[in-house]
Amino acid sequence: MNSSYFNMISSAFLGTVFVVLTISFLSESLYHSDAPEQEGFVIEVAEGSAAPAGAAEEEAIPDIGPLLASADPAAGEKVFKKCAACHTIEDGGANKVGPGLWNIIGHPVGAKDGFGYSAALTEYAAGGTTWDYENLNKFFLKPKAYIKGTAMGFAGLKKEKDRANLIAYMRTFSPSPVALPE
Ligand code: HEC
Repeated sequence: MNSSYFNMISSAFLGTVFVVLTISFLSESLYHSDAPEQEGFVIEVAEGSAAPAGAAEEEAIPDIGPLLASADPAAGEKVFKKCAACHTIEDGGANKVGPGLWNIIGHPVGAKDGFGYSAALTEYAAGGTTWDYENLNKFFLKPKAYIKGTAMGFAGLKKEKDRANLIAYMRTFSPSPVALPE
């Protein structure tokens, strides 16, 4: 009596365990076959599309030179407010989240004292690249597309006029501003 009661309980228990295990196995195998596939897909799309889009844009973007002649540094000062959370621009200004930008035009890339640059920016700087009007224009359009992997967390400035005004403003923070392009 006692042992058949025990048998009944234990077989009911085993049956329940079997059902639970089956369900969890099925749902887990479903979950597992779905999740990595989707994750891989999303990441691949995000990264894969970034490079060609950036490259295409880089080719399509017109020179900023012609706009600089008539650019407005005072308007550029307003644009720089977007940068000021991370950058100073005055002479002797400290590095913040980003490096101090005093005298940056004509300055070697990634070479401000005491700032820890990303591997991406360091690689871009290799061979003695300096910042000039055109590469700054491309960088400010879409930093992450122009220098893939840069630590600069800024989406970019879509409007050519904003970039021209900004660069004209930054140009004034130099003891001897680089001549404007012809
Ligand atoms: C969220 C913070 C952040 C914002 C906003 C930001 N930057 Fe940066 N910036 C950085 C960081 C970090 C770096 C270093 C990038 C690296 O090492 O890849 C950087 C690098 C730079 C460099 C290269 C400096 C060098 O020494 O080579 C320039 C030029 C620059 N930023 C200009 C700007 C301008 C102009 C704006 C506004 C339109 C701006 N940044 C907005 C964080 C920021």
